[in-house]
Amino acid sequence: MLCFSLSADALLLLHRHCSALAPPSLPRPRLDLLMQILRMKVLFFFLLLLAAGHRCAAVASSEDAAYMHLLAAATGADGTLGWKAGTDPCDGGWAGVRCELGRVTGISVRAKGLAGSVPDAANGSLSALEDLDLGNNKVSGRLPILLLPQLTYLWLDGNLFTSMPETFFSGMPLLQVFNLTDNPIADLRSLRTPPDMRGGVITKLDLSKKLFSGPISFISGVASSIQHLKLSHNEFSGELPDFTDFAWLGLLSLDHNKITGVVPASLPQLSRITAINLAGNLLQGPLPEFGKYVVTDLAEAAAGGSFCRLDRGPCDPEVTALLSIAGALGFPLIIARSWLRNDACAGWIGVHCDSQRRVTGINLSRLGLNGSLSSAFGSLLWLQVISMSGNNLRGEIPESVARLPSLRVLDVADNELEGTVPTLSSSVAMWAEGNPELKLSGSSVSTPSISGVFVSTMVALLASFAVFLV
Ligand SMILES: *[C@@H]1O[C@H](CO)[C@@H](O)[C@H](O)[C@H]1NC(C)=O
Ligand SMILES: *[C@@H]1O[C@H](CO)[C@@H](O)[C@H](O)[C@H]1NC(C)=O
Ligand SMILES: *[C@@H]1O[C@H](CO)[C@@H](O)[C@H](O)[C@H]1NC(C)=O
Ligand SMILES: *[C@@H]1O[C@H](CO)[C@@H](O)[C@H](O)[C@H]1NC(C)=O
Repeated sequence: MLCFSLSADALLLLHRHCSALAPPSLPRPRLDLLMQILRMKVLFFFLLLLAAGHRCAAVASSEDAAYMHLLAAATGADGTLGWKAGTDPCDGGWAGVRCELGRVTGISVRAKGLAGSVPDAANGSLSALEDLDLGNNKVSGRLPILLLPQLTYLWLDGNLFTSMPETFFSGMPLLQVFNLTDNPIADLRSLRTPPDMRGGVITKLDLSKKLFSGPISFISGVASSIQHLKLSHNEFSGELPDFTDFAWLGLLSLDHNKITGVVPASLPQLSRITAINLAGNLLQGPLPEFGKYVVTDLAEAAAGGSFCRLDRGPCDPEVTALLSIAGALGFPLIIARSWLRNDACAGWIGVHCDSQRRVTGINLSRLGLNGSLSSAFGSLLWLQVISMSGNNLRGEIPESVARLPSLRVLDVADNELEGTVPTLSSSVAMWAEGNPELKLSGSSVSTPSISGVFVSTMVALLASFAVFLV
């Protein structure tokens, strides 16, 4: 405190003397004399300031010193960087440590051969720390719990960290830049539920080249602040979120993950986007169209990927309908891996066609599917068989299914469907048991009460479908 007021006073005086320099009306000799006196005074105050600054820097606060000694011992910096026991972290002898007014404000020890682990900084230590760079060392173990209210830059890239505490982001409300690329972390739980990131101000986030997995939707938590987002070469899955709120996003690297689904229209509409990488995923549907100054890897994504065509333009109508069906199921990987390109009759899992390459059957039974039945079933006008039994489907059976002119079999048994079954034509055989919340309407569809004639028709039908539905 004394230190601070001393140097603040010195600064103030210095400023007053300097701004009083050279009033233009004074005659020359007097001006020279005045200048000389002032110069001496300025020099004096400058020296005073230096001394004050030096004295301040020489004594680290006890919490900071205690933590720094822990860190020194835990990472081996006591031996390699001169962070010696019994010395003060702010005495100038600690390589890479920056102090201001007795507080550690910066630690920059990139590629210094550090190993071991980083202790948690959670008890008021380092509360003035603004930047921490431990990049390219061999530090391992869990990422530390860092309650660092001033921390703005955090570089932990190129280390051997293996997990991330659930609350990792909650103690760093001012964090803007976080780089964790190149660490073998395999646990993204804290990012899957990102309440801590949501209030945050992260502008640059690099989590590429690791073993992260899990839904990509966590990035919505950084929507309002993020500018550079690099998540390449992980195993992120699920669909892309809506990008409407990503107003500052300029650079987005999502290549080489397992992202499925159709690119949302809100992504190419972002006004600040300048570079985007999407190749090496399981994205489907039409190629997104970015502005001509946006650098993209779409040529590679189209050639090696699963978009419906290499050029721009809509997908085949049956493909479009099937993508809506997959979308209502959350674009599961098993479908995304198989429903590639623009020909639904090219051996897509669960899709069956007649000799004129029209989709006549969909059998996605017992695949553990979640989600619901899309109304787009109603666009596949040649459909004769829909078999979606034994999944976890919720919601209602869409009305459009009842209007399919050729439908013969609707098997939705053993799901969690609800609502009322739409009235089906009497030529449709339906299996709907095992859906406790599903109510049958008064029509002829009540499940096992099918007439003998109809059952034999059904057996014949199923036998003929079985050839291609299995
Ligand atoms: C904080 O202090 C408490 C009590 O002194 C101690 O039990 C705890 O381990 C400390 N936490 C960290 C992260 O240092
Ligand atoms: C993260 O660090 C790596 C080097 O380890 C660097 O190549 C990359 O550009 C950094 N990411 C960001 C967003 O600055
Ligand atoms: C359906 O949800 C369950 C539970 O969340 C999950 O384990 C399963 O993998 C999901 N199924 C598919 C096909 O994604
Ligand atoms: C659907 O496929 C499964 C195997 O995946 C098969 O057991 C079942 O008989 C098929 N359903 C129909 C109606 O052909």
